[in-house]
Amino acid sequence: MPQIPEKIHELSVGQLSARSGAAVSALHFYESKGLISSRRTTGNQRRYSRDALRRVAFVRAAQRVGIPLATIREALAELPEERTPTREDWARLSEAWRSELDERIKQLGRLRDHLTDCIGCGCLSLENCVLSNPDDVVGEGMTGSRLMGERRTPANSG
Ligand code: FES
Repeated sequence: MPQIPEKIHELSVGQLSARSGAAVSALHFYESKGLISSRRTTGNQRRYSRDALRRVAFVRAAQRVGIPLATIREALAELPEERTPTREDWARLSEAWRSELDERIKQLGRLRDHLTDCIGCGCLSLENCVLSNPDDVVGEGMTGSRLMGERRTPANSG
């Protein structure tokens, strides 16, 4: 990664991209979502403070562990005066996100187990395939055709 001389206090989008490893389009997206900000030069070019490097690193690290951008934005917005996250901020937030990550890993483990049942099956049955209809609590213990009949009302039986 190219080094940015200390005397440079602002970065162009290209410099921020090169230094952070994030694509220019990703930086524009982060900015549109309020995760980073820039000022405009008289020539209407974006300039980012050096702090943006750390903010981008924070966002990318959180994204790598699957934290949604909305959650990342909330975390950044809660920091006093929306300052750039410190080492302590990251330690605290990453600890809080760990339980979310653990839960997601458990869910993925369950999905993997169900997928194992599907491999070589291909039925995609709404009754039998958990992956095909994972949220079907109404239909538990009922067949599909029986459920359709019970849902029918005079207004929609048509
Ligand atoms: S495809 Fe048959 S059980 Fe999922």
